Amino acid sequence: MADHPKAFVTGFPIRHSRSPLIHGYWLKKYGVEGSYQAIEIAPEGFADFVRSLQNNGYTGGNVTIPHKEMAFALCKKRDSAAEDIGAVNTLWFEDGELWGGNTDAYGFLANLDALGAGWDNGDKALVLGAGGASRAVVYALKQRGFNDIRIVNRTVDRAQALADRFGYGTSAHGWQAIPELLQDATFVVNTTSLGMEGKDDLSIDLSFANSNALLTDIVYVPLETPLLKTARAHGLRTVDGLGMLLHQAVPGFRHWFGATPEVTPELRALILADM
Ligand code: ATR
Repeated sequence: MADHPKAFVTGFPIRHSRSPLIHGYWLKKYGVEGSYQAIEIAPEGFADFVRSLQNNGYTGGNVTIPHKEMAFALCKKRDSAAEDIGAVNTLWFEDGELWGGNTDAYGFLANLDALGAGWDNGDKALVLGAGGASRAVVYALKQRGFNDIRIVNRTVDRAQALADRFGYGTSAHGWQAIPELLQDATFVVNTTSLGMEGKDDLSIDLSFANSNALLTDIVYVPLETPLLKTARAHGLRTVDGLGMLLHQAVPGFRHWFGATPEVTPELRALILADM
């Protein structure tokens, strides 16, 4: 077994992670002899864990909350997404050197491309939230050519810090600006934790929304968030957030196991059955 590629996901806590299910499904589907396991590591042990990866026979792995920023700091080599987002969620080795990448933006775009044809036809986007998830989303939207990205946050300073980070084409706003900003935005995304199971609902009045708008949510538990439900009631197009989780796993699997896996309806159903 020693020679088989071995990968992991680590976070703190990690028991809710669905990544082992996703990679387990692909390992079986493609007949790859390898393994992928969840390992819980507390923040104080994370740096040692990363330094001993090769000694412990790991090909690489995924990193999730709260380790993404520390992973960024520990990697001397980083892909451009990680560099611009300031966080690393995927580790792998190239020529013996540890690389850190960020696949969240890729997952976000791939999900919308798969399920929301034409979602990127406009240039005005409304981004709700300014936390870690928002950084990846704003990066992705800039990459895709949106040149008027309005970041709305309860704490405006955080939205401003994000707009300063990404510069041209981004702007910061308070929550009260939503009705006005909704009018011409053709793409709206929730990156806050509102709407998540156990959290408060995200309640915004979508009667001002542009009739061509497509809405999506980073939250995928529940799959149909209050935002998406309201959007559909207004006759607006929606894409749920589960596909982002599935697609963001693709580049990691390719790095560690050498095959490009597919996000299939079967995989989606497997994860849904586990929710
Ligand atoms: P993540 O890394 O998952 O994005 P985060 O950095 O904690 O998590 O960010 C959470 C986001 O949800 C923030 O935009 C936060 O707004 P603040 O910056 O004002 O805290 C937003 N959020 C969380 N609870 C909220 C609430 N009750 N009302 C409005 N926004 C909320």
